[in-house]
Amino acid sequence: MIKQAIIPLAGLGTRLLPLTSVLPKELLPINGKPGLEYILDECVKSGIKEIIFIISKRKQIIKKYYYNDSFYKNLIKKKKDNKKLKLEYAKIKKYKKMIKFVYQNKPRGTGDAVLKCANLIKSKHFLMLMPDDLIIMKNCSLSLIKLHKKYKSSVIASKKVDKKSVSRWGIFDIKKINNKDFIIKDVIEKPSIKSAPSNYAVIGRYILPKEIFKILRKQKPGQNGEIHITDAIRTLIRKKNKFMGHLFAGKYLDCGTMNGYINSFTKISKL
Ligand code: G1P
Repeated sequence: MIKQAIIPLAGLGTRLLPLTSVLPKELLPINGKPGLEYILDECVKSGIKEIIFIISKRKQIIKKYYYNDSFYKNLIKKKKDNKKLKLEYAKIKKYKKMIKFVYQNKPRGTGDAVLKCANLIKSKHFLMLMPDDLIIMKNCSLSLIKLHKKYKSSVIASKKVDKKSVSRWGIFDIKKINNKDFIIKDVIEKPSIKSAPSNYAVIGRYILPKEIFKILRKQKPGQNGEIHITDAIRTLIRKKNKFMGHLFAGKYLDCGTMNGYINSFTKISKL
């Protein structure tokens, strides 16, 4: 059973400057709640019981958001009849109980972030969600968890992208099983148009095996000097670990760039 999820939150958010010069991108509001809360709601609705946040000293304010009890308690004391405030605080308290924090103080890449969770992961597989990738209308994590049970494998979410944009994504080499699911034969981080094996992109929802920590401990930095999770997955595939890809049904919203963030806001506010 997949009961643990991890969320890398130590990224600098440079694509969203100047908004991110003081505020973490994951706390930027989207139609009345932080982007991060959409990710947490998806996790909890998919049956996850424990969520590990990988933050950095610079992004302590994310912890503060969930540990601001005295602030809420004082307000509630003063405004006793405020139901909405009590509800908001109840939700924050519920999430606080589920969240653990680990630190990645140097931005050495997603693979390095994942490695920080090695001592906390208990079962054979765990879920990872990238907070820049919002998926609405259908719970993508829940779909991946179901497929993990069905195929007894690791699973990664995917979306077909414009061929001209392949160098923005991790790209799969695939063998189709049906209209939605495929075997991942290989995966390449941000390939050139020429070297891309398909236009099936990696989207930020992964069910990964615990063995990945062993690989990450030995992994050398790749593109831009960063430790990429994509490279560790590649190694696991070569070692005959089974990885499935899934074209998810929900709507994808990219919150990691300014245009994407503005678009997400507009789309979600019209729902
Ligand atoms: C990361 C992954 C990439 C994936 C993308 C999805 O890239 O490394 O493989 O396609 O997320 O959003 P980033 O957005 O951090 O550049």
